[in-house]
Order: sequence, then structure tokens, then C-alpha cells
Amino acid sequence: MDYIKLKEKYGTPLYLYNVDRMKEVIEQYQANFHSTLFDTEIIYASKAFNIKAMLRLIMRYQLALDVVSLGELFTAKAVGFPMKKIYFHGNNKSYDELKFAIEENVGIIVVDNLTELKNLEELASTFNRNVEIYLRLNVGIEAHTHKYIVTSHVDSKFGVLYQSKEYEEMILVIKKSKHLCLRGFHSHIGSQIFDLSPYQASIKRLVQIVKDFDIPLDINLGGGFGAFYTEADAPVPFHEVAKVLIHTVEEELKLQKVRIHKLCIEPGRSIVAEAGQTLYTIGGIKQTPNKLYYFIDGGMTDNIRPALYQAVYAANIVGKEKNFKNKIVTIAGKCCESGDIILENALLPEASIGDLLVTYSTGAYGYSMSSNYNKALTPAVVFVEDEKDELVVHRQTLAELIEREI
Ligand SMILES: Cc1ncc(COP(=O)(O)O)c(C=O)c1O
Repeated sequence: MDYIKLKEKYGTPLYLYNVDRMKEVIEQYQANFHSTLFDTEIIYASKAFNIKAMLRLIMRYQLALDVVSLGELFTAKAVGFPMKKIYFHGNNKSYDELKFAIEENVGIIVVDNLTELKNLEELASTFNRNVEIYLRLNVGIEAHTHKYIVTSHVDSKFGVLYQSKEYEEMILVIKKSKHLCLRGFHSHIGSQIFDLSPYQASIKRLVQIVKDFDIPLDINLGGGFGAFYTEADAPVPFHEVAKVLIHTVEEELKLQKVRIHKLCIEPGRSIVAEAGQTLYTIGGIKQTPNKLYYFIDGGMTDNIRPALYQAVYAANIVGKEKNFKNKIVTIAGKCCESGDIILENALLPEASIGDLLVTYSTGAYGYSMSSNYNKALTPAVVFVEDEKDELVVHRQTLAELIEREI
């Protein structure tokens, strides 16, 4: 990418997405995630990066969509996303969210717990609508690279424990219901996972569970496939992920003599992370007794992950990539928080004020977790496809920043 030209055109901080890379990952999943034994569906987990341009790309590839809020659902509606291809998640869906989902005929509501199931049953009968559901199960399998992003241990806030009292009651509610139709089970076992064995354990468990029912149900394995951030990461190639999961499910079905209707996966990060880069301008350089700081014009407001769970990124100084890396640097943002550090102890070339700094693999959970802390303006987003750049989200303006304030 021509960072200098992009900075001149759009300013910094700036989110950049290499669309060709996202297409490549989607194609790798699509080419390998199919079976002769059951249907398959790849569902983009839009929490990783949900903007209209991204959802249009997902539509171009006819993937399905995972949403977790009215806002994500509304964005999908705004681009004309086929509602039947939407899976609606969330551990505390509100009345309004469920009502909207029912009115819009969302394909599957992934029910998280008993309270939600009862609310949904009430709504479905009030509106006299049939609703297809999955149950989000906690299969007790823990896979993690950091404890804050683990979602499937026994005390998780997500999902219901198989064979718990709550689970048994949920099954009874469904059996009695005239409107709720159980289509399958969902389990998401964590994030940034590099080892496929926890998925294999989860598959074994889910196939056993599906065996309790006399009709072929769906299995949704969630997302969590690891992406490359730094040299310390060794993700399984995505075509391999798809092949291994399909193969494991096929083998398990044969072994346990079970049939399923459909197998789903929900990759988010793996589709968008590596395609994203964030461009900053270095506005200050400071040497303290023990640290050398490069101050950038963004920070935790455009990328909260380092502060939230010590996520690590690779970075470089634009135009000096080949220079000798002789500086150990802390890259600090401009927020009034000592924890506003994007990168600690990065080995980088010597930089000057005004240089551009780029952080790599920032495409997932960066823009989508951005904030206006210190009233920072949310950066613009630019898609680069076939070497052509296109503005897909304009930089927030000062007027937009206060437009809701009375
Ligand atoms: C239910 C569910 N599905 C899919 C994902 C996507 O995970 P990832 O972005 O790690 O692929 C998440 C992430 O939290 C999730 O909670």
C-alpha cells in the first residue's frame, strides 16, 4: 500500500483494509468447507468488523451472518442482507431486539439461556410466528490464548451447560411450544485458537448431544480460528481448518451412527484481522530514564485490545522498513490513561517526528471496539482492492461527535 499517498488523501489515524486478502481467506474457507454427508454454512461473525461495506462483501460471497445486537442487525438490514441468512446471538437480547428479529424473519435465533427462551416463546405466541432456534451450549471445553477471551468454561456467561437443570427445562419449554422449533446446537469455545484439538473434542460432544434427538439437527461450531499478529503466532491455514473440521465431523458421525442436517462455522477474526492495518502519524518522541516513547495520533480509542487484554501487534515506520532496527520503543496513544499503550518494547528503526507508523493485523475488533474516549474522532476506514482505494467510512466530524447531545 502507498501509505504516504493514503495519508495525504485521508489523513491519520486511518484504518486500511486489503480487500484482496479478505477475499482470499473467504475463498479458502469456501473451497474446503463442504461435505457429501450434510449441508454446510460459513457464517461471518460480524462483531469482528461490522460496517456496511464489509457486509456487502460478505453478501457478494453469499456467506451467512452472525449478529449480536440490534445495531449489527440494523446494519445488515440497511444493506439488504437476506434475513434468512442471519444468526442472531447474544446472552441478553432485549424485548426490542427479539421483536425486531421476529418481525424481520431472521433465520435463526441462537438462544443463550432459559430467561431468553421464555421471553422468545411469549413473543412468538403474541405475534403468532414460528421461530427457528439453536441453543447455545456450554460444552465445558476451554480453549484460550488469554483468559478474558475464553467463553466456554463451566462458569461462562454464555450458553447453557448440557444436562444441567436449566438445559432440561429449556428442552421441555421447546417441546411444549407451538412456535419454537429447535434446529440445532451452537458452541463457541474461545478465540485466537491455534490448536484444532479443542474443536475435535467439542465436535465429539456435540455429535453425542445431537444423538439425543430423532431428527437430524444442525451443529454450529462457532469461530475462534487463530490469525497471524506477530512472529509468535502460527495459525493453522484456513483451508486446513475447514478440511479438518469437516473430516472430524464426518468421522464422528460415522462412529456414533448419527446424521446431522447442517454444519456451520462462524469465523470473524480470521477473515478480517490480517487484512487490516492502522496508519498513524508520530507527533512526539520522548526519552525517559528507562523508556523511549513514540507518541501516535491515535491509541486505545481506535485499538483497545492491547489495553484490554495485552494483545500484541507488529509495527513499522513507513519508508524506513529496511533501516536497522536499533530502538526499543513504547508506542503510546494520546489518551489521558497511562495504559494507553499500543505496543510495549517494540524493536523499530529510529523515527523522526512526522513519520508514519503502521500497525499490522488490526482488522478484527479494532474499529468495532473503537470509542470516543477523550472525545477522539473515530478514524476513517479505507478499503483497498486491486490497488484502488475507496473510502468506506468517513472520519467522524466534530459536529457528529456532539450531534446527539442536548
Ligand atoms: C458466538 C461467537 N461466534 C463467533 C465468534 C467469532 O470469533 P472469532 O472472531 O475469534 O473468529 C465469536 C467471538 O466472540 C462468538 O462469540
